[in-house]
Amino acid sequence: MIKVKTLMVYESIHHGNTEKVAKVMADVLKAELVKAKELDINLVAEYDLLGFGSGIYWGKPHKDLLHTIDSLPSLTNKQAFVFSTSGAGEKGSNKAHQLIKGKLIEKGFTIVGEFSCRGFDSFGLLKLIGGINKGRPNEHDLKEAEDFARRWQNS
Ligand SMILES: Cc1cc2nc3c(=O)[nH]c(=O)nc-3n(C[C@H](O)[C@H](O)[C@H](O)COP(=O)(O)O)c2cc1C
Repeated sequence: MIKVKTLMVYESIHHGNTEKVAKVMADVLKAELVKAKELDINLVAEYDLLGFGSGIYWGKPHKDLLHTIDSLPSLTNKQAFVFSTSGAGEKGSNKAHQLIKGKLIEKGFTIVGEFSCRGFDSFGLLKLIGGINKGRPNEHDLKEAEDFARRWQNS
């Protein structure tokens, strides 16, 4: 059995929603989990599979995640998955995922999966109504994140 060595890179600045999803996936995959700014890009070569995740802010992933991806060297034989949480769920993350995937493909990654779910959002005026998606990601979302990650789980 070949072991898949996984590194996950993320940003989660609003309510830690994306971090919750990232932690569940990292547990399944026994992955290293680092914030985008803290990634030592020289270590990337040691991993087979990389996960890139972010909350969605103004339709985009966090800029630190994008900068980190931009700063990676060109790579070969690396797989990547993309994940996010957003106020609008899949609809809110679509364009942002396209942006991340485009950059990763340019760097030589093969995209092998993507995951998104809703996250508690109390930004701006939403605060006045107590926010939307309270409690999200919830147990069901986290179970889906776990199931998503299982496809690369080392047995
Ligand atoms: C500044 C800001 C902008 C946001 N813009 C969007 C957006 O364009 N689309 C969307 O669906 N959600 C948007 N959201 C909601 C977040 O994507 C959602 O709350 C997400 O789960 C936050 O993840 P985090 O807790 O990991 O930071 C925004 C939140 C903030 C704080």
